[in-house]
Amino acid sequence: MINELKLAVLVSGRGSNLQAIINKIEAGKLPAKIELVISDQPEAKALQRAKKHGLEDHIVQREAFADQGTFEKKIFELLKEKNIELIVLAGFMRILSPNFIKNYPAKIINIHPSLLPAFPGLNAQKQAVDYGVKYSGCTVHFVNQEVDSGPIISQRVVPVKVNDTPASLSERILKEEHKLLPEIIKIIAEDRIEIKGRKVFIK
Ligand code: GAR
Repeated sequence: MINELKLAVLVSGRGSNLQAIINKIEAGKLPAKIELVISDQPEAKALQRAKKHGLEDHIVQREAFADQGTFEKKIFELLKEKNIELIVLAGFMRILSPNFIKNYPAKIINIHPSLLPAFPGLNAQKQAVDYGVKYSGCTVHFVNQEVDSGPIISQRVVPVKVNDTPASLSERILKEEHKLLPEIIKIIAEDRIEIKGRKVFIK
């Protein structure tokens, strides 16, 4: 039997990237299992998607904890209990502390809606439109101790049109996100990734 990579998907909102992962797994095209969906937002649509597909979901709200440390400890405990092998940040809009991240070297990936290192942080698509770049896209990278700065695994490029709004650009980028993220998870599940310093090689 193929070993299924045990995933936790961390979300904050709509969960369309979560859905893209679910779809590939259910289609038998991704040797992975979503053991946990964790949302820091109780109203996240991603939670409805998780429930619909019979996935275990948890709401872990930062406000329910005294500080970042106890908030992250709760997440850590959930991950440990399930022996999670890869943590996927799929629209998780919170920054995890270096303290948390050091527990999972090269085991946390994030999808970001720009061609990093351009336009890190919030509203990346608006930043791209406002700046006037002709191309943007999405990046899947390992999470290290600085925001949106870890080694880049892969990127997809999309054109930015002169009359694009942040919404129209987001939509175009999102289509690529939905392809790229499951692809990268598959490559990790197949153990085809090697990291040397900042560089990531796909074997
Ligand atoms: C996606 O566009 C993702 O790249 C972005 O949030 C959106 C989540 O959509 N993430 C970030 O901006 C992280 N800095 P989704 O909830 O439908 O997957």
